[in-house]
Amino acid sequence: MSQSKIKRIGILTGGGDCPGLNAVIRGVAKPAHDHGLSVLGILDGFEGLVEGKAIELYNRDVSGIIAKGGTILGSSNKGDPFHWPEEINGKIKIMDRSKDALKNYQAWDLDALVAIGGDGTMHIANYLSNMGMNIVGVPKTIDNDLEATDQTFGHDSAVFVVTEALDRLHTTASAHHRIMVCEVMGRYAGWIALNGGLAGGADIILIPEIPFDWNVIYDHVLRRNMKGKRFSIVCVAEGAKPKNGGLVTKGKDIKRTDPVQLGGIGEVVAKKISENTGLETRYTVLGHLQRGGSPTPYDRILSTKFGTNAIQLVIKRKFGRMVALKGSEIKSVRIVDAISHQKLVKPNDQGVLAASAVGVSFGTEKL
Ligand code: F6P
Repeated sequence: MSQSKIKRIGILTGGGDCPGLNAVIRGVAKPAHDHGLSVLGILDGFEGLVEGKAIELYNRDVSGIIAKGGTILGSSNKGDPFHWPEEINGKIKIMDRSKDALKNYQAWDLDALVAIGGDGTMHIANYLSNMGMNIVGVPKTIDNDLEATDQTFGHDSAVFVVTEALDRLHTTASAHHRIMVCEVMGRYAGWIALNGGLAGGADIILIPEIPFDWNVIYDHVLRRNMKGKRFSIVCVAEGAKPKNGGLVTKGKDIKRTDPVQLGGIGEVVAKKISENTGLETRYTVLGHLQRGGSPTPYDRILSTKFGTNAIQLVIKRKFGRMVALKGSEIKSVRIVDAISHQKLVKPNDQGVLAASAVGVSFGTEKL
C-alpha cells in the first residue's frame, strides 16, 4: 500500500445495531469532509462490501443524526465475507467471499475503511487488514464485552432501557406482591444484567459468569417475603445458566458466524420460582427494545469521541488499530489485541461487590 495522502475513506456499521452508530458516523464524516476527504458509506455492513452496495456520504447526510437510533447505513450480522451464506439447491453453503470484498475496496478507490462494530466485526476487520486493507475499528455493542476498551458505545443506552423497565416492574410487582423476572440481552457476558440490575434495584441478578443455584434463588425470595418485602425483582441475563445446567436457546441461525440464538431463560426462571415457592411470578423479555431508540447523552459523547479519534488515526495512517476508552481518555489498541479476549464480569468486579453489599443475590452462596 502506498504512503500517499488519504483522499477517500469508506465507513460501515457491522453486526447488530445499537444506539450511537449514527453519532460515530457523524463524528468520522464531519472532520473527514473538513480535511477534504470524500466518504463512501458502505450499506448493510460487510454485506455491502462484498456485494458492492454503497452511497456517497455528503456533509448534509450526517447533519441532524446524533440523536437517531439505528444506522443510516444499515447493518447485518450475516455478511461475514469469510463465512458467507449462499443458498445452493435449497441448501445453505458457507463460502469465502473475501476476495470480492477486497475487489470492491480497490474498485471504490478507498485509502482506508472505518469499521464500526463489535467482536465479530473486529475479527473480520483483522482478517481484512491481513489481506492489505487499511482499517481502523470503532468498538460498538450493547453487550460491552470487548476487553480492549473500558466501555463500548451502546451499552449505556441499553442499561438505561433496562433501568427504566425495572423501575416500572417494581411498581407493578409491589402492587400485586409478585416476583417479576426480567430477561435482558448480553450474550455470554453479564454486563447489561449487572449494570441494569444495579441501577434498577434488582433483588436477584443472574449472569453467565456466575452459574446459579436454584435453591439459593427460592430461599432469597422467600426470605424477602418473610421480612415483609412481598415482591422481588429478578434481572436475568439471556446467557445465565444454572450450575450443572446449559444455556437456554431459541434456535440456531447458521448464516451467522455464531449461530446460537439465546433466549428463554427468563421464562424458565419464572416458572421454577413459581413452582418451588408458590409465589405468583411473571416474566418480561426486553429483547430488542434494548437496542432501539435514541442514544443516551453518555453514548452520544462517547460515540462522537470515538468517531473523531478514529478519523485522526486514519489521517495519521495508524491502521489495524481500534479506538478504545481507557479511563477517561480515548486511546487506540491493535485490533488483533482487541479480539484476543472477551471481557466478562469477574466475580470480584466492583459492581458485583457493591450489589452484594446492598443485599442482591447472584443465586450463589459464595462469591
Ligand atoms: O450482540 C448484541 C445482541 O443484541 C445480543 O445481546 C443478542 O444476543 C444478539 O445481539 C441478538 O441478535 P439478533 O438481533 O440477531 O437477534
